[in-house]
Amino acid sequence: MDTIALLQDKRIILAVTGSIAVYKAVDLASKLTQAGALVDVIMTDAAQRFVSPLTFQAVTGRPVYTDLWKADNSGGLPTHIAHVGLGEDADLMVVAPITANTIAKLAHGFSDDLLSVTAIAVRCPILIAPAMDGGMYEHPATQENLEILSMRGVFRIEPEVGRFASGLIGRGRFPDTQTLIGHIRYTIGVSGDLAGHKIVVTAGGTREALDPVRYITNRSSGKQGYAIAQAAIDAGAEVTLITSAENLPDPIGVQVVHVDSADSMRDAVLEYTQDATALVMAAAVADYKPADVSNQKIKKSDDDLSIPLARTPDILMSVKAQREKTGYPLIAVGFAAESQNLLENAEGKLQRKGLDMLLANDITADDAGFAVDMNRVIVLDNDGGTQPLELTSKANIGAYIMDRIIGLLD
Ligand code: CTP
Repeated sequence: MDTIALLQDKRIILAVTGSIAVYKAVDLASKLTQAGALVDVIMTDAAQRFVSPLTFQAVTGRPVYTDLWKADNSGGLPTHIAHVGLGEDADLMVVAPITANTIAKLAHGFSDDLLSVTAIAVRCPILIAPAMDGGMYEHPATQENLEILSMRGVFRIEPEVGRFASGLIGRGRFPDTQTLIGHIRYTIGVSGDLAGHKIVVTAGGTREALDPVRYITNRSSGKQGYAIAQAAIDAGAEVTLITSAENLPDPIGVQVVHVDSADSMRDAVLEYTQDATALVMAAAVADYKPADVSNQKIKKSDDDLSIPLARTPDILMSVKAQREKTGYPLIAVGFAAESQNLLENAEGKLQRKGLDMLLANDITADDAGFAVDMNRVIVLDNDGGTQPLELTSKANIGAYIMDRIIGLLD
């Protein structure tokens, strides 16, 4: 797992309770550690019936806390009083999985073990991920206790519907690690520099229909746009992702609008950018579409087939017109995919489309660009500045764009 800038050196308390799902929390502890977080695990007595503290200690490389009455002599906490020391400078307390019993204890302020005392001592946000077997999640007692916690500002990850250890089926399953990390990023990022700002991102190659079963598209995977949307969430923005990509999971916290053609993407972009701080156009919009869409499947014949093409709208040109009228979006960022004369072509696009910033890709490089996780771009500013970035992850390019947007707002 790659490091995640947002989680680098963040202190996360991961508290686990006695649900069979506790074994999945081992993977969460491991992935958070690999992402760069400092993970301090608290285990209840019941959790230790399922998994040993040593397991968590091995994956986090840090002491595991189990006993309210034991002073902490590790030197890793601000004070030897464990529940105070753990809570003192934590960035987030995650209780995952949390049982119906611990939900009830936290809702009513009981504090008789290290987890519940720490939950009262912390000043950081608390995020809970309930996991319990058949019918327990829906029970009115659990629901009312969850309501109390929500009113108090505790963040919650809804459990999923599926098959339980008992064989019953219902709501109460612990989500997978990626979903949990998505919620953790959202909760930590929510008060970031872009809090209160609306960022619209586009992703994927558009699909231009030819007949009911065929379309014209391109090789864009959408990965760069999704990484930008995630970076905007990490920075605390309210994010709308307008996407034609079909096989990527929705980033947690993002409003995802699915579109297919250039026309439908343009309509969505104009609608969602009306009050947006920034638009980042990472989509590979088709420049041409079949001039006529056949209602019926085109049958093969012995003759060659020619397909007349018509121009699609240039979305950024429409956005430029909207900005001239209303001023929104305040900032527009584009990409340029070039196979020759990179800088010259990119500079022309930046000016023509009225952009604040443009990231130019050389699509002939085989270690960067389409379908891979890395990208190599040259950044052009509207004041004539250019800056080449080293080959880096699409996630880092997303974070770079957010830093630049924050800079432009200042
Ligand atoms: N773009 C757009 N609408 C289009 C085509 C592209 O808004 N119909 C946007 C892209 O999302 C990107 C930027 O314009 O941010 C440049 O896209 P690119 O494909 O590199 O350039 P084009 O304008 O399509 O020019 P060409 O294909 O001739 O290089």
